[in-house]
Amino acid sequence: MDLNYAMLEYLTQISGPSGSEERVAEFIAGQLSSYCDEQTIDTLGNLIVRRHGTGKKIMIAAHMDEISLMVTHIDKEGFLRFAPLGGVRIPNLIGQRVKFSKGRIGTIGVERLDKPSDFKLDKLYLDIGASTREEAEQFVRIGETGVFVGDFIESGSRIISKALDDRIGCFVAIEALKRTQSPHELAFVFTVQEEIGTRGARTAAYALEPDLAIAVDVTATGDTPKAHPMSVELGSGVGIKVLDRSMITSPQIKRWMADMAAELNIPFQWEVLEYGGTDSGAIHLARGGVPSGVLSIPTRYVHSPAEMIDKHDVEAAVDLLVALLERPTEL
Ligand code: CO
Ligand code: ZN
Repeated sequence: MDLNYAMLEYLTQISGPSGSEERVAEFIAGQLSSYCDEQTIDTLGNLIVRRHGTGKKIMIAAHMDEISLMVTHIDKEGFLRFAPLGGVRIPNLIGQRVKFSKGRIGTIGVERLDKPSDFKLDKLYLDIGASTREEAEQFVRIGETGVFVGDFIESGSRIISKALDDRIGCFVAIEALKRTQSPHELAFVFTVQEEIGTRGARTAAYALEPDLAIAVDVTATGDTPKAHPMSVELGSGVGIKVLDRSMITSPQIKRWMADMAAELNIPFQWEVLEYGGTDSGAIHLARGGVPSGVLSIPTRYVHSPAEMIDKHDVEAAVDLLVALLERPTEL
């Protein structure tokens, strides 16, 4: 399959902290303008891309935001303190580079610790190379969010980058919409604020009233040294979610996805995630309930600046999403 990985590289490198996803939305809207009937931005900032049809009304969701750090304080010497926006892993922060809207990049340092157990978020600071508060304020404001720096690298069939959670989901959705000849009424929703509680998906699902929904997002794996046991691995196919902390997938949706994958020889893996959630967690609870499922991209090092995926899984996800949208369904 001929997927546009140069476009994925560009997509991962755009800054899109929760609440400031405009630049991601603008890029995706440009990619899809000639493949849809209508594009709108709703109140919260979700990008809704519609293709009209006469079948079921299907919502496809992928989130545009990425985990980030919000500046809470700037001291006299120009050092910044910050709060996490989304599931940032505190122990991984030292030495990370963080980029702000004016292009300024800082590095994260730690205060002297008397004992290792003193290591806490409030011992960390961001150094953007400023010597005074006034100098720092030329580049960064209180309440501004910065994202991690993490180049896009291809290592064999693997891709390493920041923000693959969930630009890879956006990418799968974009590639699927470009390919599909669906008979259905499609609403591709590129959502905001997933990382801080699936907020964009909630209002979009309420407004759209879909008959069914599919979210595309990353999931963890169990295939690294001494990982928590989990039967998902890189390169073994797209994940079909059974359960996470936000939902139990409806049996009909699971069967629909797995039967389609089996029929077309698309590799897939059952995914049981013992923590975390996705936009489908919010969507399936909208109004009187929406039958919802999730196509998952197995991802190592989720929420780090060096998340890793496998191209084979991405291709399986695009193939399966196209096939699901392509045919009439009784669901
Ligand atoms: Co995430
Ligand atoms: Zn995600």
